[in-house]
Amino acid sequence: MPAGPIGEEVAMTNISHIEEFLGCATPKEWLAAAEVNLGVLLIDHAHCEKKAASTALSLMSRYVDRKELLAKLSQLAREELLHFEQVLEMMGGLGVEFTHLTASRYAKLLRKDISTSEPMRLVDTLIVGGIIEARSCERFSVLAPQLLENENTEELGRYYRFLLKSESRHFEDYLALARLYSPESIDGRVEYFLAVEKQLIEGKDDEFRFHSGVPVAPFNQ
Ligand SMILES: [Fe+2]
Ligand SMILES: [Fe+2]
Repeated sequence: MPAGPIGEEVAMTNISHIEEFLGCATPKEWLAAAEVNLGVLLIDHAHCEKKAASTALSLMSRYVDRKELLAKLSQLAREELLHFEQVLEMMGGLGVEFTHLTASRYAKLLRKDISTSEPMRLVDTLIVGGIIEARSCERFSVLAPQLLENENTEELGRYYRFLLKSESRHFEDYLALARLYSPESIDGRVEYFLAVEKQLIEGKDDEFRFHSGVPVAPFNQ
């Protein structure tokens, strides 16, 4: 493993501020579906890590004059690529092959109402980035105890607990950048995107993915 105390005991990072920030918790139906769709969950998780890195890199290409953004997102992109490699390694251990997978509706619908004019285009993009990091963090925290119960998935459970720390920092970095570059308070925009996110998480979803909503069928593949 390239970095991090994976495989060792990892203290649980306190994410209560993230749980309070998000409009809702992961529904139990999603967690039940995750248990029987572990392969899809892992493949999608790997794609999400890769996409998180590429989103950060494209922001760095578009906003070359934003010094703080370049510093934070360069570090973030490196960490996401490291996570990508680590997830692939976890998948190898569990006999799951990396393949193409259609993207979930989540990020696409969350980004739908991002402003088309600056500086709010940047601010909204950063807010949405922060919300995605926050939800990922919350999903890892509900998945970890379930995975730790089974000896086959125990290592993955420890890894998900380990990921809480970096993903909660990414959430804070994105929101801090949004505040920095916004000409006004970001509270209204945060509230708006959180309401959209809540609908996506609590609404019915006919596909199971890392960020999907309540599965239409409990064990759909
Ligand atoms: Fe990550
Ligand atoms: Fe992240």
